[in-house]
Amino acid sequence: MDFYSIRAINREDVPFLWDMLYEIRSLRCVREGKILPSRDVLQTPDLVKYVQDWGRKSDRAFIAFDAQTPVGAAWYRLFNADNPGYGYVDDRTPELAIAILPQYRNKGLGKSLLNHLFAQAKADGYQQISLSCDSTNNNALHLYQQLGFEQVGVHIIQNWIMQKVLI
Ligand SMILES: CC(C)(COP(=O)(O)OP(=O)(O)OC[C@H]1O[C@@H](n2cnc3c(N)ncnc32)[C@H](O)[C@@H]1OP(=O)(O)O)[C@@H](O)C(=O)NCCC(=O)NCCS
Repeated sequence: MDFYSIRAINREDVPFLWDMLYEIRSLRCVREGKILPSRDVLQTPDLVKYVQDWGRKSDRAFIAFDAQTPVGAAWYRLFNADNPGYGYVDDRTPELAIAILPQYRNKGLGKSLLNHLFAQAKADGYQQISLSCDSTNNNALHLYQQLGFEQVGVHIIQNWIMQKVLI
């Protein structure tokens, strides 16, 4: 971990959030050896809401760097019942997303980014934070459960909605 740094997002990092959203969206295709989707998939209504118009008051993100190069990001946004995310719980619970570039996974960066987000969420006054996770994504589930997330629902068939109480 000594060679990496983590800081809050700047405006110039927003394109990297789109890259990480694409990592999340294409993960299953990579795992199953399928053709990757076009980047246009990020413009579908269910996905675009995770990054579009970044910079709203409640938007928070942290970026991990290897020297000057961004290698991972974790972020959250507040959604509402009229426009819920996959991991929507209620209007007072931000929903997070996270991805690390493949060659930088399993080095502790994901855990570290999430701990930054939890501290930020607590400072913002939230009592809990949520996410959605493909129930076959074992690496992510392992990390989430280790950090105190519990399944509280299901979105579509294979997507778990998980929540962590921020103490
Ligand atoms: C899920 C993800 C964010 C985890 O980030 P990471 O930096 O790799 O995770 P960390 O290195 O902090 O590891 C945290 C724990 O997960 C385990 N882990 C991470 N990657 C693993 C792997 N490939 N195989 C086995 N265990 C793994 C680590 O061993 C560690 O557990 P430990 O503390 O018990 O040893 C990362 O794998 C990723 O970007 N995946 C693709 C995108 C994705 O799935 N996003 C989440 C969508 S819900």
